[in-house]
Amino acid sequence: MSHIEIKEEFILKARALWPELEWIKNAELREQTTNTWALALQKSVLTPNDLNTIPFTLLCGPDLKVTFMDHKRAVVHIAKDCGEQMNKFFKNDLPVNMDVLLAGAILADVGKLLEYEMKEGKSVQGSYGKYLRHPFSGVSLAEMCHVPPAVCHIIATHAGEGDMVKRSTEAFVVHHADFMTFEPFKDRLKV
Ligand SMILES: [Fe+2]
Repeated sequence: MSHIEIKEEFILKARALWPELEWIKNAELREQTTNTWALALQKSVLTPNDLNTIPFTLLCGPDLKVTFMDHKRAVVHIAKDCGEQMNKFFKNDLPVNMDVLLAGAILADVGKLLEYEMKEGKSVQGSYGKYLRHPFSGVSLAEMCHVPPAVCHIIATHAGEGDMVKRSTEAFVVHHADFMTFEPFKDRLKV
């Protein structure tokens, strides 16, 4: 694996975007996860300010106000609560590795930073993103930062592509946390 250089300013930006990084107990995994976000920010046309402004998905029309970071952070908080409840109720019958879960939830959409391009102040999917959706580009970024396979698996399987794959417990949690906070925005029963 070739050596990559991540500038300190992007590490500081990643930490500022993600206070939840502190929840990862293993220092090495926390650093790998931080570095992956920093590398994505370094390569991306999107700035932290864009991430706090643009809508979290391109699939819900122009009126969606929930921002990229609001949605990404909500998924991490929901996944954390879910993992803790599963560990409380199911104990050793269905153990959830909280560090793996948290790192995977934080990294699930990191590849979107390479998927998007800015056109006339709006985020659109660029040609790289058309060829390689964010589950693929996310794994690519994460492996450059030595993120372990149990976490890359969550990135790889969190979206629809993962329906073809046998998911780990942690990957199921992130997948559902992500979809339960996306599908009702896209298409819910309104009475
Ligand atoms: Fe995603």
